[in-house]
Amino acid sequence: MAAAAGPGLRFDGRVVLVTGAGGGLGKAYALAFAERGASVVVNDLGGDFKGYGKSSSAADKVVNEIRAKGGKAVPNYDSVEDGEKLVKTALDAFGRIDIVVNNAGILRDRSFVRISDEDWDIIHRIHLRGSFLVTRAAWNHMKNQKFGRIIMTSSAAGIYGNFGQANYSAAKLGLLGLSNTIAIEGRKYNIHSNTIAPTAGSRLTQTVMPQDLVDAFKPEYVAPLVLWLCHESCQENGGLFEVGAGWIGKLRWERSLGAIVRGKSHPMTPEAVRENWEKVCDFDNASKPRTIQESISVLNDALSQIESEGNVSMNATYSGSVTSSSVNAANIIGRELATKVYTYSHLQPILYALGVGMSTKDPDHLKFLFEGSEEFCCLPSFGVIPAQTSIFDGVALDGFNGLNFDFTKMLHGEQYLELYKPLPTSGQLTSVSTVADILDKGAGAVLLIDVHTYCGKELLCYNQFSLFFVGAGGFGGKRTSEKAKATINPPERPPDAVLSDVTTANQAALYRLSGDWNPLHIDPNFAALGGFKKPILHGLCSFGFAARHVLKHFANNDVTRFKAIKVRFAKPVFPGQTLQTEMWKEGNRIHFQTKVKETGEIAISGGYADITSALDKPSAWETAKIAGLQSDLVFEEIGRRIKDIGKELVKKVNAIFQWDITKDGRTAVQWTIDLKNGSGEVYQGPARSSADTTFTLSDEDFMDVVQQKTNPQKAFFAGKLKVKGNIMLSQKLEMILKDYAKL
Ligand code: NAI
Repeated sequence: MAAAAGPGLRFDGRVVLVTGAGGGLGKAYALAFAERGASVVVNDLGGDFKGYGKSSSAADKVVNEIRAKGGKAVPNYDSVEDGEKLVKTALDAFGRIDIVVNNAGILRDRSFVRISDEDWDIIHRIHLRGSFLVTRAAWNHMKNQKFGRIIMTSSAAGIYGNFGQANYSAAKLGLLGLSNTIAIEGRKYNIHSNTIAPTAGSRLTQTVMPQDLVDAFKPEYVAPLVLWLCHESCQENGGLFEVGAGWIGKLRWERSLGAIVRGKSHPMTPEAVRENWEKVCDFDNASKPRTIQESISVLNDALSQIESEGNVSMNATYSGSVTSSSVNAANIIGRELATKVYTYSHLQPILYALGVGMSTKDPDHLKFLFEGSEEFCCLPSFGVIPAQTSIFDGVALDGFNGLNFDFTKMLHGEQYLELYKPLPTSGQLTSVSTVADILDKGAGAVLLIDVHTYCGKELLCYNQFSLFFVGAGGFGGKRTSEKAKATINPPERPPDAVLSDVTTANQAALYRLSGDWNPLHIDPNFAALGGFKKPILHGLCSFGFAARHVLKHFANNDVTRFKAIKVRFAKPVFPGQTLQTEMWKEGNRIHFQTKVKETGEIAISGGYADITSALDKPSAWETAKIAGLQSDLVFEEIGRRIKDIGKELVKKVNAIFQWDITKDGRTAVQWTIDLKNGSGEVYQGPARSSADTTFTLSDEDFMDVVQQKTNPQKAFFAGKLKVKGNIMLSQKLEMILKDYAKL
């Protein structure tokens, strides 16, 4: 197990309400929160495990235990059905409410048919309705302060079902639905809601678990998850976790690719459902929808497929019996194919680097092969990988059934890649693929697919795949497209540089691990079917070799300088052959072609790569990133002080200030000083709610103001300081800034 890293998670200043905290799991949460600085409302009705009776002693005992250890806690003896009263206790005692752990619960186990109305209702009232009422009572306080963390307690009995617990299962899974929706509604207010399905020894489980397990599954093995999910630094929202015995796992939905069981001229019948049943239930190539939009998009796809053709099921390979027509092409152009999320760790960039021939023999390659290297980075040509996943994975290429596209006869014709940012070495990228155009080349059809890859909302790179379908031409379409990124022939002079590299016999076997599983590159029988004497190297593998030749020779392996690359795959390459890249420099553009040294044949033709020159100034953003802004130190220091005196300042100032700090004329960083909510806060980024006043000034001018070399009024009249919003409030700034002259 990894050792603890970073500072401990603290909850100082936070107010936590734990329902049902008189024993079992709730007690463990309450003690753990209090130990880490939180003020805790210990709620417990104090009845028995079936919900009969009440007593104040359960809550009192826990409160006393917390206080004896020096912690802050107050009891509340109301039922969760009186949600408002629980939250009022928090407000009366501590002035705010930050975290609600909905934990209170009882059992009324009966086999299904013996469940009485009362047993059904009370289980729903305590678990589902109680959690609703308590959370609703806290909601507006959380919303106003732009912070809230909510835990819902579900159960494996709800997720999987459990004999004798129909009432409980229904309520427990109802809590997941509740959490899923408030996670969405709360997101913009920094209110997060997550659901746990714990297993722990307690009086609830005593009746069903052997004593040694009750003893072994300690509530203390669940509490740390609850604390992490409730911490301000945790961004998890809308998650579902099973937890127990010190183990934690996350759950998600998986959906089969499914099947369309009707056609334009074929009604949907129970028989058609029966015939497709295997496909409906086949989880090969299953998707993992995360949002209702993703869930519904498949229905839109199905409608347009049915509209454009007929009764071809979604995962059937195309039969070739449908006549091609230009009308179909027109329907398809501009259509979004798929949105795919590609999640990766440092492993994938390293595997990719090995796949395109990097080696520890070259000390320069270490930064691409060793995640511990200070300069660890991702090869720019790796940008094709998440994009390719979006095209080739699962359903992406379905939906062309109006055209005679046989994917076994597909050749990768050309590739264009443009990068807007260096690729992160790990993360989650979303690629959206669209059909840019369809060309009729007579002998075949060319499908141009544009893929935009994002990290969050930020566009990282753009790919254009040009795919050639042998035998699919002749449908009366156009031959060229203005959307196509064209190749360019190299100048007619000897190359300025030539680099070569031997591919290994296992090059394709290694490269395919980056996600192109086409058997053509590994299976001799499959290659023979395609007319090759042995498996061939992936076009994109040769592309990777060529890209790194250019990167090395003309950009000193500096990935930030590599902006774009275009290639045409002219001839196949066999693993073991030598790739020789000839390069010509024309300004910032490097023209190149890659030959197979042994045969002299050109494998990649018409290639070019755009490289920024080393003299190019890094962008303001990069400078800020690299050099760090002086103002950052000041804001961090203000942040520390506000921790001590924030409450006072909030009373006096009652405003939110946003700072846009510029470097070389562009905004390099934003900071917000919130002296309106809670006990104040300083954070990087724009104001989470709207700022009362926004200041724009350069890093240097900011430092001058802070060091009192100039005053804000002078800076304002000299045009160095711009102020938006409530100008009067800026007078109160003195209070915050006056102590920083010494910095
Ligand atoms: P527990 O019985 O030790 O704790 C539940 C507490 O809730 C009790 O102290 C009880 O007095 C209190 N409570 C009951 N009704 C209340 C009401 N109306 N208002 C306020 N407080 C009330 O049980 P345990 O195991 O700690 O359960 C905690 C939660 O975890 C429950 O929601 C339970 O359904 C859930 N859970 C527990 C599992 C386990 O393995 N222990 C498994 C799956 C879910």
